[in-house]
Amino acid sequence: MAYENNSGPDDIFERRESRVRSYCRAFPDLFRSARGAEMVADDGRYYIDFLSGCSTLNYGHNHPELKRALIEYISADGVAHGLDMHTEAKARFLEALERYVLVPRKMDYCAMFPGPTGANAVEAAIKIARKVTGRTNIVAFTNGFHGMTLGALSLTGNSGKREGAGIPLTGVSHEPYCGYFGDEADTADQLDQRLSDPSSGIDKPAAIIAETVQGEGGLNVASDVWLRQIERIAHKHGALLIIDDIQAGIGRAGGFFSFERAGIRPDIVTLAKSLSGFGLPLALTLIRPQYDQWKPGEHNGTFRGNNHAFVTAARALELFWADNTFELEIARKAARLRSALKEIAESSPFASHVKGRGMMTGIEMRSGDIASEICGECFKNGLIIETSGGQGEVVKVLAPLNIPDSELDAGLAVLADAARAVAARHKKSVA
Ligand SMILES: Cc1ncc(COP(=O)(O)O)c(C=O)c1O
Repeated sequence: MAYENNSGPDDIFERRESRVRSYCRAFPDLFRSARGAEMVADDGRYYIDFLSGCSTLNYGHNHPELKRALIEYISADGVAHGLDMHTEAKARFLEALERYVLVPRKMDYCAMFPGPTGANAVEAAIKIARKVTGRTNIVAFTNGFHGMTLGALSLTGNSGKREGAGIPLTGVSHEPYCGYFGDEADTADQLDQRLSDPSSGIDKPAAIIAETVQGEGGLNVASDVWLRQIERIAHKHGALLIIDDIQAGIGRAGGFFSFERAGIRPDIVTLAKSLSGFGLPLALTLIRPQYDQWKPGEHNGTFRGNNHAFVTAARALELFWADNTFELEIARKAARLRSALKEIAESSPFASHVKGRGMMTGIEMRSGDIASEICGECFKNGLIIETSGGQGEVVKVLAPLNIPDSELDAGLAVLADAARAVAARHKKSVA
C-alpha cells in the first residue's frame, strides 16, 4: 500500500517520530527507491544525491553487484546474525581485507568488530588506548567530530552536539587542528611544546585522535607534514595515534585510507560508514597487534559481526580495491569536481573559497544562513546536498565516488543555479 505523504498533524512522522530527527527536516520528501546517485520520491520525483548517506554510500545506492551477492547469500540461508561467532561470511570479509587492503599496503592490524556504528568503533579505540597506556587523557582537535555516544562525544568539538550529553564530558584536551590559527601558526609544534612542558596543565595523553579531513567540522584538511608531526609527537610522548577514517576513508578523500599519502602508520584506525558499501551497518577498529590487549569479551555487543554487511563489504573490496583503477578514477573525478566548484565560488559574491580534498570538497560561504539557503534551493531543484562546519557555513559535496560524469555535472549545475538565485535574492533585498 502506498503511504500518503503529508506534513500536517496526520503525518505519521510528525505524530510518532521523535523530535530528534534531523535530515528529514532539510529534505522533506518521502523517498521510495534509490539507485546509484539517484533517489526517487513517492510522487516519482528524482533527486541527485550529493549526500550519499554522509559518505556511507561511496559506491552509490543499491550497487547491482553488491545487491546480487547479498540476495544470493540470503537465498541460501546464510547466517544473518551470529554474535561474533566464526561464519563463512566473516572469514571471506577478513580474507578480502587482508588481500586487497592490508597486504598490498604492508600493514599489519588486528580487525576488531565493535558494535556496528562509527561511534562504537571510536569508543573501542579510546578504551583500548586508555587500557594499554594506563592513561586517561585523550588529545582531540577543534572542529573534530567522532560520534554521539558519550566517549565519542567527549572528543567532538561541536557545542550543539555536546550539550545533549547531560553530563560533563571529561578526559579530553581539545587542541587546535592544522590551520586553526591560519597558515602561519604551527599547531603541531605548539602541541609538542605543551606536552613537553610539565607546567602546561595538559595531562600526558593515552592517544591523539584526528581526522585527516574534518567531515562534519567544515572540510578542514590536515597537511601531510602536520600528520607526520602528529604521529611523531604521539610516539614521543608515549601516546597512541588514532586516525578516525570513518568519513574520509574508503576512497572519499583519495586512497582506501585517507592517511596513506602522508605515509603515516596509525596505531589504531576506525572505519564504518562505507565499509559495507551497501549502507548496511558495519564498523571496524583496526589495532596494531601489540596493542590488541583486550580480554575476551571486554568490549562486547550483540550486533558485532553483521554477516549481511560482511558479504557486501567483501564483494566491494574485491570489486573496487583489487587494483588502483578505482583510485585513479576517484582522482580524475575529484579534479573535475574541484574545478567546477572553483568556478561556482568565483562567480558567487557570498563564496569565500573551495575546501576539502578528493570527493569530500565544498565551498565555504560567508555564513551558515547563506549555505543553508543554497542547499534549500538545491533541494527544490532536485539536488540533495548538505552543509558542514562549526556554523554550517560550508556547502559540502559528498557525491558517490562512482557517480557518472553526466550526473556529477548535472548536480553541479543545480548548485551553480542555486548559488546564483540566492545571490540575486539578497542583492534585491539590499537594493
Ligand atoms: C569522522 C567521524 N567519526 C565518527 C562518526 C560517527 O559515526 P556513526 O554516526 O556511524 O556513529 C562520524 C559520523 O559522521 C564521522 O564523520
